[in-house]
Amino acid sequence: TRNGVEFAVADLSLAAAGRTQIRLAEHEMPGLMATRAEYAASQPLRGARIAGSLHMTVQTAVLIETLVALGAEVRWVSCNIFSTQDEAAAAVVVGPHGTADAPSGTPVFAWKGETLEEYWWCTDQVFQFPGGLGPNMIVDDGGDATLLVHKGVEFETAGRVPEATAADGEEFALVLGTLRASLARDPQRFTRIAAGIRGVTEETTTGVNRLYQLAEAGELLFPAINVNDSVTKSKFDNTYGIRHSLLDGLNRATDVLLAGKLAVVCGYGDVGKGSAEALRGMGARVVVTEIDPICALQASMHGLPVVRLDDVVEQADVVITATGNLGVVSAAQLARLKHNAIVGNVGHFDNEIDMAGLARIPGITKTEIKPQVHEWTFPDGHSIIVLSEGRLLNLGNATGHPSFVMSNSFTNQTIAQIELFTRPDTYQRQVYRLPKHLDEKVAALHLDALGVRLTELTKEQAEYIGVDVAGPYKPEHYRY
Ligand code: NAI
Repeated sequence: TRNGVEFAVADLSLAAAGRTQIRLAEHEMPGLMATRAEYAASQPLRGARIAGSLHMTVQTAVLIETLVALGAEVRWVSCNIFSTQDEAAAAVVVGPHGTADAPSGTPVFAWKGETLEEYWWCTDQVFQFPGGLGPNMIVDDGGDATLLVHKGVEFETAGRVPEATAADGEEFALVLGTLRASLARDPQRFTRIAAGIRGVTEETTTGVNRLYQLAEAGELLFPAINVNDSVTKSKFDNTYGIRHSLLDGLNRATDVLLAGKLAVVCGYGDVGKGSAEALRGMGARVVVTEIDPICALQASMHGLPVVRLDDVVEQADVVITATGNLGVVSAAQLARLKHNAIVGNVGHFDNEIDMAGLARIPGITKTEIKPQVHEWTFPDGHSIIVLSEGRLLNLGNATGHPSFVMSNSFTNQTIAQIELFTRPDTYQRQVYRLPKHLDEKVAALHLDALGVRLTELTKEQAEYIGVDVAGPYKPEHYRY
């Protein structure tokens, strides 16, 4: 704590550098800044205590300061051990008007290169608002903050936290440890916190999947808005964001020429489509793996061979996973890759590539080329290059998606926070999406900056196609 602001970041003296980047990002985030202006006077988030768990980047700094500008009290952590930009974290703590000696910004608990133990300690911090209060809102990305509350309530109800089993894995053992310490301090802490939460707004596909599973099991403790499936989120951030930041990560990590190389993209959903297009744009020979016949057919229509990893693994120069699924590349397949093949993941969690299995191969050695770039050498002498230890490489090896696309995502986030916070009685313990007119509004806020001139419907045309002149312009089932 300094000047009354709690924080745990790498270095507050980086704040000035972070602030200049935030200033430039604000210009590239017209939707978020317009939302800030629209609600500055009415302060719809006054009284909101928001616990945020989302990559602590420059773009997220603009989101945090927007939530604060709308009246919210905010605490923030990153949702990945490698994704924090330390200068952005420092700038948020210092705030637009503070100094490193007298910060006056928002509490942030995040630095690049946390251990998993530190990660879960940080996540626990967003639940401790001053005065012994918990949050009443969550912004989540991947669902770790929501998981902590749900597991906390489950164990508090049972009166004990179980011992971790071998099947739980190292990370879940740390979650259990965090909750055991919490339970010892205060046996009803998460039960009280959950009762006070009006809702969560979830950023990504993987987190949304977790929410639907909880809702289907009848275990969801508060309403949720699925921000990911706003059209202006998943069809933009997931696809065009990764189209930019996958290459940024590959280049900063390896600087290897991609042209002519064989690149395998595992998963041809929204993220896989952007990944494949980026690699193809660099002149790589791109092939795709899929389990879904529709996405496989789409890849084929785009001229991309759809293969099985086993059939191409020896020829691959680059393997990128983008499935949100586990065990997509096995340790045995990693061992079959050619010398210095590059392996990386852009799906949310680090279980797509079997890193644990790789580390267990007898005689394997790991050499750090630079942070988040490792050469794994097999007993036969050949090596592979693994990026960000199998975690999101576009955030671990670069700085994630650029501001303009994140403005779309974070405008949805802000609108969703306002919606759940100001109209709590409208929502049950279910997962909701934002209505289409708000989705269209988010897009509309980004047109001027690009010089887009929309054609206006005449009344006659609107009637003919059965819509209102002011929108929404498409039925709910339209797929874009
Ligand atoms: P999606 O559901 O649109 O696409 C995933 C695709 O993978 C699906 O088409 C599915 O059929 C396929 N798939 C599943 N298991 C597979 C397997 N074993 N082999 C081959 N294909 C398989 O999801 P989306 O939106 O593309 O997200 C993918 C992941 O990326 C999620 O974990 C999401 O949270 C994450 N994400 C990462 C971002 C980043 O900045 N790196 C940005 C947005 C999302």
